Amino acid sequence: MESTQDPRLMALAERALSHYVNKTTDRAPTTMQMPVSAYSDTARYDRERKRIFGSLPIAVALSIELPDRGSYKAMQVLDVPLLLVRDEQGVARCFLNVCRHRGARLCESGRAQTRIIACPYHAWTYNLQGELVARYGADSFGEITQQAYSLTALPCEERAGFLWVSLDQTPFDIDQWLGDFAVELGTLALQDWHIYAQRELPGPGWKVTMDGYLEAYHHNMLHGQTVGQMTVGNLMVLDTYGPHQRLTFGRKSLGELARQPRKLWRPQDHIRLIHSGFPNLSVSGIVGGFCLVSQIFPGPTAHTTLTVQTVLCAKPPQTDAEIASAEDFSAMVLQAVKDEDYPVGFGVQEGILSQANTHFTFGRNESALQNYHRWVAHFMGEEISQ
Ligand code: FES
Ligand SMILES: [Fe+2]
Repeated sequence: MESTQDPRLMALAERALSHYVNKTTDRAPTTMQMPVSAYSDTARYDRERKRIFGSLPIAVALSIELPDRGSYKAMQVLDVPLLLVRDEQGVARCFLNVCRHRGARLCESGRAQTRIIACPYHAWTYNLQGELVARYGADSFGEITQQAYSLTALPCEERAGFLWVSLDQTPFDIDQWLGDFAVELGTLALQDWHIYAQRELPGPGWKVTMDGYLEAYHHNMLHGQTVGQMTVGNLMVLDTYGPHQRLTFGRKSLGELARQPRKLWRPQDHIRLIHSGFPNLSVSGIVGGFCLVSQIFPGPTAHTTLTVQTVLCAKPPQTDAEIASAEDFSAMVLQAVKDEDYPVGFGVQEGILSQANTHFTFGRNESALQNYHRWVAHFMGEEISQ
């Protein structure tokens, strides 16, 4: 957790307070036009899945989802069946969740603990490094070079509380990819948190969905009964780290800082940080020791996504009051996303198909959206005109 007067948070609170007092927000130099076809074109979507989600390092899981040696998580990401494993040395690894004999799925989706990976079809078994170590009926099966039958490994790195994987096996340098964003994410110390809840939410297309995670312009209107009650609408302090961004929002109490001597400030009580990892990660916290991690995975069409929403607590809730408070936070963020953000997003999706708009317009106050779409264009090898 942050110390009371973390200089970094003090500086952010100061910038946010200045906006609050002056009724301003960080702004891009201009508004930006985005062709609606970028949201709906099917051929483009297939290319985006390959060039962005296929070959860039994606945060597929939190480190704390594999807490011990022998912990594993099986999951489908886009069309790729992943098996994430923490081996006996504590190293996080990622394999295709596919047996090398005749292709059976090795582990069902979910998290568990194991010492070996045994195929449910004919009982070939693999160790936690993915090496084939035993075959049922090996004599009758016949000779094979066992070393050539290791599970297919994907490039996998563990940094800043997440496992990063490239789905199409493109090698990557995670430190280069994250740059200083790793330090920012690292300050959250996500490896020390506790998973309170995790669920999957169907949502609208990935750009429509991500757009909603990148601005506070909608908070007062759409989230008036939930997170909007805590956030100052339309106030954002933005910092960028290559394609990654950190958004600082003001909490409703932000204005109190104007009346307090600086040495008494507790900045963490008055701002809220969103760490947005390109292309699909949002880490939002920390409200009273709670944090929301959202991973937005594109679905089979340009109009669909699956969000893995994980609610973290700084420590496991134990007393009735702590459990009630964790449940309240969990229920509130579920409501804000499932009943507020995503229904609006599904409406946007229908609106896209109606062809009412040829372009969307990102305001100067929606600068994180502008950056995001510029980076999408960058990885697609395109330029965006203003
Ligand atoms: S498919 Fe796995 S042992 Fe046969
Ligand atoms: Fe929202």
